[in-house]
Amino acid sequence: MANKAEEKDEKIWNKISLKKKKMPEKVKKKEEELVIKRKLIEYWGIEIEYTDEDVVYFIPLKPEYKVVDEYWVVEPFAKVKIASIPQLGGQLAYFVEEVQLTPQEKKVVEKLIDILSVEMKPPATIEEDVKNYVLKEARRLLDKYKKAFRGLTEESWDKIIYYVERDLLGYGPINVMMLDPMLEDISCNGVEKSIYVWHRKYESIPSNVMFLSHDYLREFIVKLAHVAGKHVSTAFPVVDARLPGGHRLAATYGEEISPRGSTFTIRKFREKPFSIIELIESGTLDPWTAAYLWLMLEHRMTVIVIGGTAAGKTTLLNALLNFIKPSYKLVTIEETPEINIEHENWVQLVSRESYGLGETKTGEIDLYELVRISLRYRPDYIIVGEIRGREAFVLFQAMATGHGGLSTFHADSLENVVRRLMSSPMNVSEPYIPLMNIVVHIERTPLPGGGFARRVKTVWEIKDFGEYIEIIKWNPLTDKYERVNDSYLLTLLSLRTGTPIHKLKEEIEDREKIIKWMLENKIRDVSDVSKIITKFYMFPEEVKKMAGAIPVYPTKTTPTVGTKTTVKPKKIKVVAAPTKVEYTEDEIQKRILELIYQEEVPLDYKTIAKRLNIDPLGIWSHIRELNKKKLIKNTVVYSGGAPILGFELTEEGRRLIEKELKGGKE
Ligand SMILES: Nc1ncnc2c1ncn2[C@@H]1O[C@H](COP(=O)(O)OP(=O)(O)OP(=O)(O)O)[C@@H](O)[C@H]1O
Ligand SMILES: [Mg+2]
Repeated sequence: MANKAEEKDEKIWNKISLKKKKMPEKVKKKEEELVIKRKLIEYWGIEIEYTDEDVVYFIPLKPEYKVVDEYWVVEPFAKVKIASIPQLGGQLAYFVEEVQLTPQEKKVVEKLIDILSVEMKPPATIEEDVKNYVLKEARRLLDKYKKAFRGLTEESWDKIIYYVERDLLGYGPINVMMLDPMLEDISCNGVEKSIYVWHRKYESIPSNVMFLSHDYLREFIVKLAHVAGKHVSTAFPVVDARLPGGHRLAATYGEEISPRGSTFTIRKFREKPFSIIELIESGTLDPWTAAYLWLMLEHRMTVIVIGGTAAGKTTLLNALLNFIKPSYKLVTIEETPEINIEHENWVQLVSRESYGLGETKTGEIDLYELVRISLRYRPDYIIVGEIRGREAFVLFQAMATGHGGLSTFHADSLENVVRRLMSSPMNVSEPYIPLMNIVVHIERTPLPGGGFARRVKTVWEIKDFGEYIEIIKWNPLTDKYERVNDSYLLTLLSLRTGTPIHKLKEEIEDREKIIKWMLENKIRDVSDVSKIITKFYMFPEEVKKMAGAIPVYPTKTTPTVGTKTTVKPKKIKVVAAPTKVEYTEDEIQKRILELIYQEEVPLDYKTIAKRLNIDPLGIWSHIRELNKKKLIKNTVVYSGGAPILGFELTEEGRRLIEKELKGGKE
């Protein structure tokens, strides 16, 4: 019986394989070669044995390796373990562990991928999420061929779907790494070598994944280049491209320029970029420095971020863009698009390589061209992802005609920046140097308490060529930021705007408070931060009051010295409802919770104030208190079509109010 069923299966299998375009001879040959075993001698102090069929190898986790950390990346199919390897003197390594397929399941996966490649119908609409579409198709085809795949459990199907997705839609052997949000970089230095990863917690460590076959690695790189819309071959052995999802790929093909075999490195792109608040939270810069830069960016000062490789220049530049006035017109100019902002008035330009052969530059549009074109858009800010060459010259000319500039520059000191700017091919002349108003130096640096982190080490104002004023300095002994000198740019701003310097200083302090308020209230998601900043540009007083930067009820004379007149939330006198009922603070907070609970939707503060008949400004201290007590949390609500800050109950808040209401009834 069983034999008959098997025979039937075999027939269906054969039928399916007819659809394949594979050459049977090659397959046969492969099977013969399979017998030959090769040995990879001594890696991590172990001997690795593999056959020619193993194109990629996952070094297994040995019992003597000590696991120090583990987490799911795709539960329950793929897990990551961080383990220390005694043979490497305790060095940590990154282990990818995926569910294993039985030989039968493996066969199904291979077949299914073949079938899908041949049979899949193009999606009906463009909008349909391609990934979901392919999965749906996979399920449909699975159903269709279910008979052929008889004997597989639901669990097996799930595993199969996981592998189909991983190999057909994902990045195959490195898919888990691509999905692991803890990884920043993935690099492969050739075959028979561990792929290295840059882990947010454990930094640069080897992984248990290695490519074994030169051919497979070459094919893999061709595929990567392909999905990035680029071409790589012996004639064009280098590729620098952007993968779907914004990941940056640099790769070399074959042994042409990398004698140890093809290589690649992927800088992973964060879907949600770091907000300025997140950077402050992790100590990359302090609230005052951020507030100072905020004011400077509002006044179209030029800021250049400098630092070494992977210092965090682009990340900081992107986060600083949070501060740009929503009405400002931005033009960004990049080689590979990395800038990722929520700004309406934004033109994104990306350079194009030549499509001609050899030395010809046919069709090339470089950064220089783009900066020239960008002027036609009348931008308030021209943002060049990274200054590298002759585009510097036009950028400085643009800055000389009143456009704000923002950019990054790969250099480890201000002197180097100036020297390189002034030499070929940038050729920026001496009088232009102070147009670069502010230079921010960021580096990955050792911390006093051990470990490394990214820190803004110095902020300079460029008064003139050779005259650089240190404004902020990071102290490596205390991990604190120190204000070193008075700002020259504030004097300049004061003259330009007619605002007294002390007012400008107060303004920075007010903004510092708004930043601290966002930190306290955990408003750190880039969209939420943008909303507050947008609101600030529209209703500065309101946001300042909300953040406690200025008194909620100003006295008749506006304060002139400093902003130390901040009213502590506790002291705010709540104007009670016209019914003249006086509530205690606890009562008001309880009523707020009750209201949100009964309305069943998140509410913004104005609605809460209206419903409870309390002065809208007075409500803030209570909202802050409830937030601190973790009884409510921030969310987004829409008012008149515009997203604004709203509040909803936390689990704890809900539990408490339900208990309270029950208690009341009893
Ligand atoms: N302040 C930070 N805190 C945590 N991670 C950061 C920070 N800044 C950058 N990173 C991470 O470090 C990596 C490198 O950052 P980024 O691309 O900004 O560096 P870069 O200096 O522009 O590098 P390159 O020299 O390649 O242009 C990214 O994965 C990014 O997510
Ligand atoms: Mg960069």
